[in-house]
Amino acid sequence: MNKLDVKTLNTLLSTFGPSGNEGAVREFIKSEIEEHVDEVQIDALGNLIARKKGIGKKIMLAGHMDQIGLMVTYIDKEGFLRFTNIGGVSPTISLSQRVVFENGTIGVIGSEHLESVKDLKLDKMYIDIGASSKEEAEKIISIGDVCGYHNPPIIDDLKVISPSLDDRIGCYIMMETIKNLKESPNDLYFVFTVQEELGLRGARTSAYRVEPDIGIAYDVTMTGDTPKARTMSLKMGEGFAIKAKDNSMISHPGLKNHLVKEAKNQNATYQIEVLEFGGTDSGAIHLSKEGVPSSVISIPTRYIHSTCEMVSNKDVLGAINYSTKLLTKEFDF
Ligand code: CO
Ligand code: ZN
Repeated sequence: MNKLDVKTLNTLLSTFGPSGNEGAVREFIKSEIEEHVDEVQIDALGNLIARKKGIGKKIMLAGHMDQIGLMVTYIDKEGFLRFTNIGGVSPTISLSQRVVFENGTIGVIGSEHLESVKDLKLDKMYIDIGASSKEEAEKIISIGDVCGYHNPPIIDDLKVISPSLDDRIGCYIMMETIKNLKESPNDLYFVFTVQEELGLRGARTSAYRVEPDIGIAYDVTMTGDTPKARTMSLKMGEGFAIKAKDNSMISHPGLKNHLVKEAKNQNATYQIEVLEFGGTDSGAIHLSKEGVPSSVISIPTRYIHSTCEMVSNKDVLGAINYSTKLLTKEFDF
């Protein structure tokens, strides 16, 4: 594969899916992959589990469907909405951004008058949907409603920009891998998980159900390549990354070595990732039941958890081609 499927990726990135509200994303992914897999299940929490049957090891591939968001906590008499965070939401990044609710309502995030930007906290901020009273706002929005950043995707020849790349880009890589993969000796479970941003919740229950022999998550990771960025060796555009560690797990050495060996065999451009904070679904998978050797294939991403997360097309395509070939072979370590 040498070009992104712009139409599919655009729809996937534009679909509403803050944590706990992944239904529309799940329906879209299901419709895209159904004919390419042997069975599709949806578990009690909403994880989408697509199996490509094989006689070998059970391998669980996981990418999370959810994205960070905001939930309405209070509507004041002027019609402004107070909110709480769903996942890692930064006040400074959120200021003056647009948000979209499931019913299509668009709002903007504003803040009280503050003497210093240091005082900018989520509880000083509100969502303005243009309503002039509580009654008017309540006709469209209720307490407990959820919204996500609204910023239509940009996909050009170099890069993709979207607030939902974390982790729709992981879902996209899995979807394309499913479509491209012909034969595999492995028993493959592609799991599109829910509620990762709230603490790897969907991965925990789905790993319990699948009972995999090996776990591999697909997720975004940070880079150290922007001006005066925190020191980190990953660069956008220099290949997908094989994780050594993050805050949720240390990659199983055997599996990590296997992933590296395969990357070398394929002449794939890859990097090794050491992330000093954060976690992915593999953090939950590797601790399920009696333990599961796990690792992560990451996409170096700039501006994570913002309205303009950015990845390089090269890294995404590299990850798809690598994964497709990787899964056609047995995992011997
Ligand atoms: Co995230
Ligand atoms: Zn993620």
